[in-house]
Amino acid sequence: MTQADFVVVANRLPVDRVADADASGEPWRRSPGGLVTALEPVMRKASGAWVGWPGQADLDVEPFEFEGTFLVPVALSAEDVENYYEGFSNDTIWPLYHDVIAAPRFKRQWWEAYVSVNQRFADAAAEAAAPNAIVWVQDYQLQLVPKLLREARPDVTIGYFHHIPFPAYGLYSQLPWRRQVLEGLLGADVIGFQRVADAGNFARAVRRQLRYETKASGITVPDAAGGTRMALAKAFPISIDADSYIELAQRPEIQARAAEIRESLGNPKKILLGVDRLDYTKGIRHRLKAFGELLEDGHISVDDVTLVQVASPSRERVEAYVQLRDEIELTVGRINGDYDTMDHTAIRYLHQAYPREEMVALFLAADVMLVTALRDGMNLVAKEYVASRVDNRGVLVLSEFAGAADELGSAIRINPHDIDGLKDAIMRAIEMPGAEQGRRMRALRRRVREHDVEDWSQDFLDALAAFHNGPTAVSS
Ligand code: G6P
Repeated sequence: MTQADFVVVANRLPVDRVADADASGEPWRRSPGGLVTALEPVMRKASGAWVGWPGQADLDVEPFEFEGTFLVPVALSAEDVENYYEGFSNDTIWPLYHDVIAAPRFKRQWWEAYVSVNQRFADAAAEAAAPNAIVWVQDYQLQLVPKLLREARPDVTIGYFHHIPFPAYGLYSQLPWRRQVLEGLLGADVIGFQRVADAGNFARAVRRQLRYETKASGITVPDAAGGTRMALAKAFPISIDADSYIELAQRPEIQARAAEIRESLGNPKKILLGVDRLDYTKGIRHRLKAFGELLEDGHISVDDVTLVQVASPSRERVEAYVQLRDEIELTVGRINGDYDTMDHTAIRYLHQAYPREEMVALFLAADVMLVTALRDGMNLVAKEYVASRVDNRGVLVLSEFAGAADELGSAIRINPHDIDGLKDAIMRAIEMPGAEQGRRMRALRRRVREHDVEDWSQDFLDALAAFHNGPTAVSS
């Protein structure tokens, strides 16, 4: 098998299987996810390999080349999907790391599947990596891979990036396998987090559980030879490919589509927008509550204000997600039932995913973007909205519990648990004069343009390069 000098290991491959291959017969399509978008520019330049799950149970395909990247599929059986992906990753780690907004479930059978699937990813990475390669492991589904890979391939340099929050020690310590997970992560040379606070929580857990010494971003880790080595744990806030959003937002057909969207909603004075995966971390219920109360109080009317809520389907077989969907759809139905008129709707709810072109048109159509996450690693939607506002108009309402709040200081900052505060913030956003919108939006856009996804990957890979002991040079 071809070996690569740069290998990404992620739960998902950057492609989706096409149900009915089109006329070209191509059975794969580039997938639209945030992580894929984030790493695409790096992969393109490095011509590396990407190890990941092809996204369907029992799909076992040989490694293949796709648009210049070598893709190495890791097959998951239906049972693996249930125990490793839906179970341990998304019903144990996900809720625990998002401050137990939903109750994490600790099941030994899920843990066992997580260990064995992580081993399989590590084996595939070990096989795909050339001597002295750089391997970059992504996210919470694969926290054991750094250690397993180091055991198999001590020559490679290993980075790990954690896309979601790392919780405070008091919560983290609930995890029955807390030591194993920390040891798994510490197999990496560089462990990247979204926020300074996440890196701090991780270092504290390492001190408390493993008694390793931590100093600034450095952690002293015992090595296989009985000595020690240094690992780096620090914040590298992720970003977006800002230029591609700017380019789309400047296209006349996308601007025309934005006008068409406004038109089809009955040309309300103000359009509010929420765009999320349908996930309990996103605070969609809090947002609907605040919006419903503003209608009830008579502060706004459906003749003037419409909320568009895009909630893309996600993890639909996990119980907490099934329940959330029911609750949200009940609430939307009630609010619309109470306030809709023949001409105007209160909430246009779309349980669908859209291509990027349509999203940019929606961003351009929306006067106010509502990001009300209860806990979120970064929230790239906030950055996508800002990048798309080439007209320097629009208002971003942003939860302080989203990683993006550390960078986007000119947004209207909210605590989504404070419903009255959220209602005030929405009214302020609706009423904000154009000059103030422009001032804030320019500052937000400057930040997103100055720190785009290329800077993110460059910063991370530069930090990793300090640990590298071979001839490989990777730069984004
Ligand atoms: C979050 C995670 C990603 C994940 C994505 C979509 O952004 O950090 O690792 O891929 O959600 O979730 P899914 O379960 O569909 O991969």
